[in-house]
Amino acid sequence: MFSILLLLVSPALAWIPTEDWGAGNVTASEGDSGQCICHVYLPDTTFPADRVAHMQQITKDLIIEVEIQTKTLVSYEAKLEVYLKDLSDLTIRVAMLESSSDKYIKLDFELLRIELREFEALVSQLKESLNVSSPSLTIQNMTMIVNQLEIYDKSNLELIRIEFAKLQKKLEDCQQDQNFKPDNGNCNSTGILSLSKPSVIQLNAHLTAGYVYGGWAKDSKPLRGYESMYVFGAYSSPNIYDFYLYRDYDKLILRSNFKHYDLPTGWVGTGSNFAVRGHSIYYQRGWNEMSKLNVTSNGYDYRVLSEASSSFSYSYSTHQILDFAGDENGLWVIYASGESKGKLVVAKLDEKAFGIENKWNTDVYKQLAGNAFMACGVMYATRSVDLTTEEIFYSLDTRTGEEKQLSIPFQKFQEKYSYLDYNPTDQKLYMYNNGYYVSYNVKFNE
Ligand SMILES: *[C@@H]1O[C@H](CO)[C@@H](O)[C@H](O)[C@H]1NC(C)=O
Ligand SMILES: *[C@@H]1O[C@H](CO)[C@@H](O)[C@H](O)[C@H]1NC(C)=O
Ligand SMILES: *[C@@H]1O[C@H](CO)[C@@H](O)[C@H](O)[C@H]1NC(C)=O
Ligand SMILES: *[C@@H]1O[C@H](CO)[C@@H](O)[C@H](O)[C@H]1NC(C)=O
Ligand SMILES: *[C@@H]1O[C@H](CO)[C@@H](O)[C@H](O)[C@H]1NC(C)=O
Repeated sequence: MFSILLLLVSPALAWIPTEDWGAGNVTASEGDSGQCICHVYLPDTTFPADRVAHMQQITKDLIIEVEIQTKTLVSYEAKLEVYLKDLSDLTIRVAMLESSSDKYIKLDFELLRIELREFEALVSQLKESLNVSSPSLTIQNMTMIVNQLEIYDKSNLELIRIEFAKLQKKLEDCQQDQNFKPDNGNCNSTGILSLSKPSVIQLNAHLTAGYVYGGWAKDSKPLRGYESMYVFGAYSSPNIYDFYLYRDYDKLILRSNFKHYDLPTGWVGTGSNFAVRGHSIYYQRGWNEMSKLNVTSNGYDYRVLSEASSSFSYSYSTHQILDFAGDENGLWVIYASGESKGKLVVAKLDEKAFGIENKWNTDVYKQLAGNAFMACGVMYATRSVDLTTEEIFYSLDTRTGEEKQLSIPFQKFQEKYSYLDYNPTDQKLYMYNNGYYVSYNVKFNE
């Protein structure tokens, strides 16, 4: 499949304008004003049958191999650790390339993504057909496939490496199956222990590096059938004009939304720190209005949170007055008020009444915090350590009232971010980092 890619990235085609990546084969035509318009599409028919056959052979071999080996458990974790680190580093490098202002490079990545989709389908098919109880076998064998591909086409080493980055999520998910069983058991812990390295998924759905204000989220209490849904909204200023809904991760990556809300006049959002819960999107409107978009009914509603002060935003962005968050314990809104003298206040929302049920004062000056999120009823606040490092420096447990000064450092992909929220269904942190989708696995203290 890489031969095709190579063809398209060859310098001979570098003249192709790249403004429009709509469907179609690689065809050039003349626009109204005589400009050259190019459509790029990689039809399935051009996916080389011999490579598919090769992969199918590998799949077959693997199934046989695994049947034989299923009972032989091997320790793979150390290896995987190294692997994931390499993958992380790689992802960052790829994302840096992606953020390049060179449009031709972006085109290459776009094509590569289409290739990757094919590859991913094969891998998930493989995973399904393996259906082994031990994820270690699956991971090792997935790794093996990639290794085999690498050998298969040494000349495209760099491009194939990018496939690793794509596989990272699947690998991490497998690892998570094993290590971070997402259930509410973590809420018996004494809190967050550490965060993984950032997993940089890709540039946002608009493929516009300038859309640095916004966020991406999963529902913290999804309806049946929407457990894998992702929501994205971003803009070049701290406003939210629309939300895109994706059925699952693959659709997010392919930027293929099943629903798009162009927020009507009067319902435009502000501030970036929205949250999705119970199939509704909660976001800031104006500066102190809690707005709710019910995805089931498509209805809008709002409440005024009069004590929230517009004078206090987080350190990386302006207009962040209301920060919504969902966790194992419910829906929350975090803000600062004149009464709190600019320190963060955590309020629990009653979802039915859409009103404040209870609130807690913290000892964190909002303007010194990068962001805040909730996990297991505990509010965590972050701040900058340096350009590449952030730390969770404070927590307040709303269950006990206990406050803690913490130092849980984590690596940032890029310096500034406008969004950070935890999702209790997969125990990951979702960050919108200078236009990029970034996530972290959260490890709780057992
Ligand atoms: C691409 O070209 C092939 C063969 O020329 C054609 O069958 C196919 O429909 C085209 N695909 C699109 C999306 O235009
Ligand atoms: C699958 O993984 C097992 C366990 O590590 C290994 O022994 C086997 O060779 C792998 N299969 C293939 C085809 O690589
Ligand atoms: C996968 O394995 C489980 C038990 O190990 C079994 O119940 C299930 O039917 C299998 N699924 C498929 C698709 O083979
Ligand atoms: C968490 O603690 C509660 C009360 O101590 C207990 O009933 C529950 O079983 C624990 N859950 C887990 C997953 O350990
Ligand atoms: C959303 O709308 C549906 C259908 O009207 C309703 O059943 C549900 O309670 C609403 N959810 C919220 C959070 O308002």
